[in-house]
Amino acid sequence: MNAIVLTNPIIQHKLSIIRNKNTGTKEFREIIGEIATFLCYEAMSDAKLQTIEVETPMGTTKVKTLDENQYAFVPILRAGTGMLDGLVKVMPNAKIGHVGLYRNEETLKPVRYYYKMPQDIANREVIVLDPMLATGGSAIDTITMLKEDGVKKIKFLCIIAAPEGILKLQEQHQDVQIYTAAVDEKLNDIGYIVPGLGDAGDRIFGTK
Ligand code: PRP
Ligand code: URA
Repeated sequence: MNAIVLTNPIIQHKLSIIRNKNTGTKEFREIIGEIATFLCYEAMSDAKLQTIEVETPMGTTKVKTLDENQYAFVPILRAGTGMLDGLVKVMPNAKIGHVGLYRNEETLKPVRYYYKMPQDIANREVIVLDPMLATGGSAIDTITMLKEDGVKKIKFLCIIAAPEGILKLQEQHQDVQIYTAAVDEKLNDIGYIVPGLGDAGDRIFGTK
């Protein structure tokens, strides 16, 4: 499995809090955002930089800058929007697209209900966000739609991945690098990640 897994002790600590079923909505949402920021740093470690000159109070120097206009974030509704804050905090000028999908609870297949991308999406590197990679269906569908729109470089960021989802996503979209804070044991018979953290959308938005 070719997923990049964050091993940083702070991430492990934060995960221990959001896995706990007694953690409330406010703290859960804040930590999802914090882990998303870490994932963003990791995912941007191959970013191309331009060299420019700036004047410091002490003189002129060459510095490296990132062109945020080359990027777009695409959260998968709903739960993916919980990660968005953590990314726009560090790259405020990236554009944002939205994909609306929910899993049919019986078939576990994703059902599409919304798709809205920046006009120039084909020219941007796209970072797809969803806290949970379970069967992989939602991620695969989203990435397929983005490729149909002409996107060439895509990365997928999640908080927890199931081995089944990683394998399926890599089988369908070999070129997409996955970044995650944890790879869990398995999916249960209703498609939930075990041990996981439960339903990410419900925990972020307090709907259950
Ligand atoms: C959850 C999660 C992912 C999807 C993962 O969303 O946020 O989008 O399930 O499962 P998969 O890998 O098997 O497709 P859900 O359908 O519960 O919708 P929600 O975000 O609106 O709660
Ligand atoms: N979606 C979730 O929110 N949690 C899971 O464990 C699986 C899919």
